[in-house]
Amino acid sequence: MLNVFLSGTGKMGNEVTRLIEENREDINLLDIALSGRNETKKIGDLELQCFGPEPEDRKRFLRKLEDEVDRLSNGNYDVVGIDFSTPGAGLQNVRFFCENRAPFVMGTTGFDHDEARRMVEDSSIPAVIAPNMCKEIVLLNEAIEYLANMYPGAFKDLVVRICESHQKRKKDTSGTAKKVRSYLEQLTENDVEIVSIRDPDIQDLLGVPEKYLDGHAYHWFVLKGKNKKFIIIYKIHGRRPYAEGSLDAARFVDVKNHKNEPGYYEMTDVLREIGKYR
Ligand SMILES: NC(=O)c1ccc[n+]([C@@H]2O[C@H](COP(=O)([O-])OP(=O)(O)OC[C@H]3O[C@@H](n4cnc5c(N)ncnc54)[C@H](OP(=O)(O)O)[C@@H]3O)[C@@H](O)[C@H]2O)c1
Repeated sequence: MLNVFLSGTGKMGNEVTRLIEENREDINLLDIALSGRNETKKIGDLELQCFGPEPEDRKRFLRKLEDEVDRLSNGNYDVVGIDFSTPGAGLQNVRFFCENRAPFVMGTTGFDHDEARRMVEDSSIPAVIAPNMCKEIVLLNEAIEYLANMYPGAFKDLVVRICESHQKRKKDTSGTAKKVRSYLEQLTENDVEIVSIRDPDIQDLLGVPEKYLDGHAYHWFVLKGKNKKFIIIYKIHGRRPYAEGSLDAARFVDVKNHKNEPGYYEMTDVLREIGKYR
C-alpha cells in the first residue's frame, strides 16, 4: 500500500483527498499534511492535521510522519508527497522534500522550475514535477510540439486564433494556451493572439455548465485558411482530471523509488510507463 501525504490542502488538495477516499484500492492518505498554517482541517470524513511552513512546524511534521509510517508499515517507507500549494511555497517545498529524502509529485505552478529540477537532480529521490497533470492534454500538447518541430512553416498559409476560458479568479493567461501558441507559431510562422475569457455571462453563452463556471479550463485552437478551417478543442470540467494524473504520478514515483531510480521526471515519463503497472 502506498501512503500519500498532501502538501497544500486547498482546492486541488481537496480533490485529491476525495479521489483517494472514493478508490481506496492501492493508496492510503495519511492524516497529516503540509500547509500554509498549523490547523486541523476536515475534508470529507478525514480530519487532517496540517503543519505550517516554519522550520519548527516542519520538524514536527517529520516526527509525526516517521511515527505514522512505522505504525502503518513497520518502517517500510512507501511514502510519496503530493504538492498542490502556492507559487511562493513551491521551491521551498521542493528543497524540503529533497533534503528529507521524501519522493514527491509537484503540481504547483508559477515557481522557478529550472531551479527545482536542479535540486531534484542533485538529490537521491525520484520526483515528478508537472505544471499540467491531465494526461490527455499532456499528450496532445506533445503531439502538436512534435509536428511543430518536424514541420516548421508547413502551415504558413493558415491564420491561427486561440481562445481560452477559465474561472473568473484566474488572473494570468493559461499556460497551456501559451505553450500551444509557441508550437502553432512555429507551424505557421505567424504571430498568434490569445483571447482570455473570464466573464461568466460569456462563458454561459459558450456552453460552460453553470456548476463549472467556478472551475473549468476550455481551449479553442482555430487554424483558418482559404476554404478550410480546423479546430482543436480541450474542455476540462472541475479538477478531477488533474487529481487523477497526480495519483498516477505518485504510483510512478513509488515504483522508481523501489527500483532505486532517483531523478527528475515529467508527466510524459509517467505516461510512457503507467500501462506497465496500472
Ligand atoms: N499541475 C496541474 O495539473 C495543476 C492543476 C490545478 C492546479 N494546479 C496548481 O496547483 C496549485 C494549487 O492550486 P489550488 O487551486 O489547490 O490552490 P488553493 O486552493 O489556493 O490551495 C493552495 C494551498 O496551499 C497551501 N499552502 C500555502 N503555503 C504552503 C506551504 N508553504 N506548504 C504547503 N502548502 C501551503 C494553502 O494553505 P493556506 O490556505 O493555509 O495558506 C492552501 O491550502 C496552484 O499553483 C495551481 O496553479 C496545478
